[in-house]
Order: sequence, then C-alpha cells, then structure tokens
Amino acid sequence: MFRMGKEEIDAVTRVINSQALFRVNNGAKECDNFEKELREKIGVDYAILMSGGTGALISALVGLGIGPGDEVIVPGYTFMATASAVLAVGAIPVLAEINESMTLDPADVEKKISSKTKAVVPVHICGFPADLDALKAICKKHGLKLLEDACQADGGSYKGKRLGSIGDAGAYSFNYFKIISAGEGGAVLTNDRKVYERALIYHDGGAAFRPYAGDLQEPVFTGSQLRVSEITGAIMREQLKKLDGILTDLRAIKAKLMESIGEGKDYRFIPSNDIKGDCGTTLAFNFDSEAKARKFAGAVEGTWLPIDSGKHVYINWDPIIEKRGGHCDAVNPYKMAENAGLALDAAGADACPKTLDILKRTVYISLHCDWDEKKISSLTESCKKALATL
Ligand SMILES: Cc1ncc(COP(=O)(O)O)c(C=O)c1O
Repeated sequence: MFRMGKEEIDAVTRVINSQALFRVNNGAKECDNFEKELREKIGVDYAILMSGGTGALISALVGLGIGPGDEVIVPGYTFMATASAVLAVGAIPVLAEINESMTLDPADVEKKISSKTKAVVPVHICGFPADLDALKAICKKHGLKLLEDACQADGGSYKGKRLGSIGDAGAYSFNYFKIISAGEGGAVLTNDRKVYERALIYHDGGAAFRPYAGDLQEPVFTGSQLRVSEITGAIMREQLKKLDGILTDLRAIKAKLMESIGEGKDYRFIPSNDIKGDCGTTLAFNFDSEAKARKFAGAVEGTWLPIDSGKHVYINWDPIIEKRGGHCDAVNPYKMAENAGLALDAAGADACPKTLDILKRTVYISLHCDWDEKKISSLTESCKKALATL
C-alpha cells in the first residue's frame, strides 16, 4: 500500500451513507464502476473485481478451462499462491527456472512442456515484467494458454501494453502490500468472453440468480464466493486514480538510484525485459557470489536477499513439496486418478537449482514512491560505500 488518505475515507463514507454495501444492491455502482475504469486503464474488454489475487488466479484458471489431467508451468520463484491456484482447480503445477531477470526462463519452460501441459503462468515478480514475447511465442507454438500473474505488478507494462492484458488472462492483487490496495482485493483481466463468463460464474456462487445470468452463453456451474463489498469497490476507484502517479514516481526514484549508484565489476543491476514498463517497486542487484551479496546486504539498511523471502521460494512450499494439494485425498490433485502419469514430482525440492543460485546472489531494496531527495542520496551513498568494499 503506497498512498491512501482522505480520498479513500470520503469514498468509504459515501458508500456507508448510501447503505448500499452489497454490489448487487439497487443503486450500488462502486464495483461496477471500478471494473469499467480498470478495463479502460489496462486496456482489456473484461475485468472482474474480487477478494484477492489468489482467487483471481483460480478464477482465471477456471475461465481458461484448466482442471484435472492438466499440467501448468509456473516459476519456482513466486508467492506460493501461483502454484496453489493450479492445485485448487485440480491441475498439477510444474516448476520452471527463472533467469537473471527474476522471471520465468523461456528456455526452461520449453524443456518442461509435455503432452499434458495446458498453460504457462509467468509472474511479474516485484514488478519486473516477464519475457512475454518469448513466452507468448512458446505458448502459440505448443497451443498453450498464457495466464499472467501480475499480482505484484498492478499497472506495469511490457512494450507499451499493461501487464495483465497481454496473455489470455491476467490476475492482479490489491492486498495490503501491493501497488494499489484496499487491504485485500484482486481482479481477473481478459479479452476473451468465454474466460470472462467462466471466471465470473466461478467467483460468485450466486451467479445463477444475478440479472446478468440471462446474457451468459456459458452454462452456470457452482462456484465459490470471492465477491467484494462496495466499500472495496469505492476504495479501489480512488486507488486506481493514483496508480499512474505512483508508478511514475517509483520509476523515477529507481532510475535515479541506478544512475547514481552505477554498475561494478562484482555486481550489476538485474537485466530487465522492459525497464520502461518495470513498476519501480524494487531495485535489484545481481552479485557474482552469495558471499558478496550477503556482505552488501549486511552493510546497507533495508536490503534483503530473495532467497530469504520464505514463502516466495519453492523449497519452502511445504504443502506442495509434500503433495498435500487438498483438504482430503479425493480432492487432492496429487491423488486424483485423472492426474496419474502427470509430472507429480515436478514441484519437488530439487526442481529448480538455477533459480536457487540466482536468488542467493541477488539483493533487493524495496522502494517507496514518496522518498525525497535526501533519502535517495543517503541510500545512494550507503550503497556506494558498501559496494566499494566488496
Ligand atoms: C505473485 C503473487 N501471486 C499471487 C498472490 C496472491 O494474492 P492475494 O494475497 O491477494 O491472494 C500474491 C500475493 O502476495 C503474489 O505476490
């Protein structure tokens, strides 16, 4: 959460005064308006606001028709939700390596494709755009769906198009830690009417009774309950107005730091698949050894190694490594008859050694869009000092 204040307080007050807190109430317009405004800003035909990024990933996978019998390729470096969403629809996550951009390595994706692969889920982790041209080409060649996990990259872009709008579907998160936030929240984005309808049906267990049900081409099936209240919709409308300003300021701060710190013989900034579209939330250094990465991180306050980020590193995804993919065997994809013969060991502890090596040699600094010149120059100085004594 970067910027929140009076505008959001006024928006919440407006909803409470209206007494229309349920998005299906007569006169309720906040969630509908947010979805329209999000569609326009991101450049997609359909958007569904919901309770979180995990729900958005699950709904999008349902939308794309993924289920038991399918393998889905995800990176070994992402929040566990990317992989657990695959299990939630009954499919099997297959881990692929990242490259030094910190995002899915297209060459390894190609190696992990089998006759059962149905989709690839690149993650724009820390706002770094994934190599979407290469991944799209692979998906096209093999007839796979591309779902962008843009949960850490709300509003970022790749070659002029917003992240989340480029694949067959995209997922945003608006949880507390994200670029725009209502504390919790998420969205599915797509240009595909069928994906939209299926995600819409899944995210609202009451879909059969909604006024729009009559317009749906897809038969209504039972789903879940991932709707949000008008309060979330109202907060998110204000947050959306702030999105581009936040991104502009983050990008300017990151560019200033990169220019003033510069690269050296022991380290470089991580390569970007599109530095203009990068969200600017994270400055990342790639060192030639873990020892140097740790020495630098030990000397500069506010730095951290992604290998230490627990839930974002696949070796820490215990329920997945131990194949507990559901609350009982009948709904655990690792035990389902439909999944027999699939790559059930493809998310094991030794799945992605290259990813672990990169995560150990990388150091992050999380940036804030409201940092002033003084903060930027003191950070520059402490980085330069630490880098000079590696
Ligand atoms: C890459 C990634 N995917 C998915 C999610 C899940 O989002 P949420 O917490 O909104 O369910 C997160 C949240 O941190 C994330 O970072």
